[in-house]
Amino acid sequence: MTPLKAEIHFQKFTPSAPKSVKFKDTLVVGVTETKSGYKFSPSVKGWKDLQIAMTSLGSIDGFNAKRGSTSFLANQHHLGSHKNLLLVGLGEESKFSAQDFLSLGASIGLALRNCGIKAADFALESLLPAGLKIAEDRAGRKDPGGKLESTDVYERLLSGIQLGLYQFNSYKSEADKQGPLKIQILGTSITTTQAKQFVDKSKTYSEATYIARDLMNTPGNDMQPAHLAEFATKLGKKSGFSTTVWDEKRLAKEGMNGILAVGKGSKAPPRLIVMNYNASKKNAPTLVLVGKGVTFDTGGISLKPGQGMEAMKMDMGGSASVIAAMHGIAQSKAPIRVVGIVGAAENMPSGEATRPGDIYTSLSGKTVEVINTDAEGRLVLADCLTYAKTFKPTAVIDLATLTGAVIIALGGTAQAIMGNNAKLIEAFKNTSYKEGEPSWELPLFPAYIEDMRGKVADLQNIGNSRAAGSSKAGAFLGEFVDYPWLHIDIAGVMDAGAKDQGQHCPQGATGIPTRSLIEFAVDMKKKFPKA
Ligand code: BES
Ligand code: MN
Ligand code: ZN
Repeated sequence: MTPLKAEIHFQKFTPSAPKSVKFKDTLVVGVTETKSGYKFSPSVKGWKDLQIAMTSLGSIDGFNAKRGSTSFLANQHHLGSHKNLLLVGLGEESKFSAQDFLSLGASIGLALRNCGIKAADFALESLLPAGLKIAEDRAGRKDPGGKLESTDVYERLLSGIQLGLYQFNSYKSEADKQGPLKIQILGTSITTTQAKQFVDKSKTYSEATYIARDLMNTPGNDMQPAHLAEFATKLGKKSGFSTTVWDEKRLAKEGMNGILAVGKGSKAPPRLIVMNYNASKKNAPTLVLVGKGVTFDTGGISLKPGQGMEAMKMDMGGSASVIAAMHGIAQSKAPIRVVGIVGAAENMPSGEATRPGDIYTSLSGKTVEVINTDAEGRLVLADCLTYAKTFKPTAVIDLATLTGAVIIALGGTAQAIMGNNAKLIEAFKNTSYKEGEPSWELPLFPAYIEDMRGKVADLQNIGNSRAAGSSKAGAFLGEFVDYPWLHIDIAGVMDAGAKDQGQHCPQGATGIPTRSLIEFAVDMKKKFPKA
């Protein structure tokens, strides 16, 4: 597993007594742009070092404080306690979303790394933009994430650093010899208790996102269903959840024929992975997370074109987020019961593979005609969603790299959400914006499910046209649920190739929406006390 790329610790700091701190060479300071020049947070003003720096800003060649810009100034010998300055542009007093702070954090981390800096001090309060306001969309609607407290801003900045510095190097023979970036946070107004909370949160949530990214970036030959199951089992022992795994014989015995139909063409047999956190807390709200774990999607007999097929190693992205979230939820000691269900299978063409036109009976008893073997994710999820009922869930959230159509609709900027419960949809949407991983709702009109009704079986696995592909996939899943349910299609946001996700997602898997899942679970009891 990739260890976190930054080590962060908090140091309470009084500007009038700078001698009490052991400083690093480089100081990171945020600068706000104003109509007439630049501005710094008031709390920074009593700090001699910075006062000196600030007065000289206007005369620095090429300096600007545009949001996300950075200027590294080496050998600033006129400063009392630092050699170098990294100035971070916060832009004009303006509107920010959580995602903006993740990107800003990433810019800071990458700038330090690119300048070869291994340790730095942060003038923490200077990084809180003056006159911080909630972002709005083009239609004038306030960001659903709501108002960010200063400690939320600091957490997003720190997480942005971790997420932006991530690199997947496991398969490089020349290992990354760069140690973690060491960050000392100098906080003047914040208490040590507050700092511990946001530093710990950023560590736990970033670690979880790293896990999701690592799992997704690992190639299909090393990430088959049994590997995923083994990983979840080992992780659970460290993180604080228990895991049970069903093999192909057990799946057959239970009647999980959708998962089996998808996995039939592969030599690597499918698995069901069930993770339990707080299993004994029967009176707590129960959140079930369901993940699509197609460890590689060739399309099966309805084979995909070769171009870009390697990206289908990430078709277990939903399950990666579920497993990673279980880690984060257990580490955060969320006050609810959480069950993670992963249907893991490899979709391969072979003499044993499911054919177009084959019909099977799903765990629910409904029969399904497989018109296109490349619409496999919904078959895996349907059995998992049926099984989810046995846990008497308060809410079920499924996550899947389900449709190419969602990439066309939303690109890499937002995941699609849909479901059968307005309160759940609203609550998840708000959380996802708050965590910098925005969602957008797609409809589930009755006409969509009508298009999925089978001619010879109860259901067919694709619609009669490609129109509304993401909603029709969602409508298919909706046939297997009878509890508050939310479906998240993450096909668009799964990898950073599209470059429309912001700085905090370097190349490869993004791990979105792991942060949102953890936060949702941590917060759920307030919004969904057990019915
Ligand atoms: N795993 C794919 C969806 C996907 C495409 C994820 C691109 C990430 C990037 C899914 O199994 C699939 O193949 N869906 C088909 C469904 C179609 C046959 C109805 C699709 O979207 O083309
Ligand atoms: Mn497919
Ligand atoms: Zn797939």
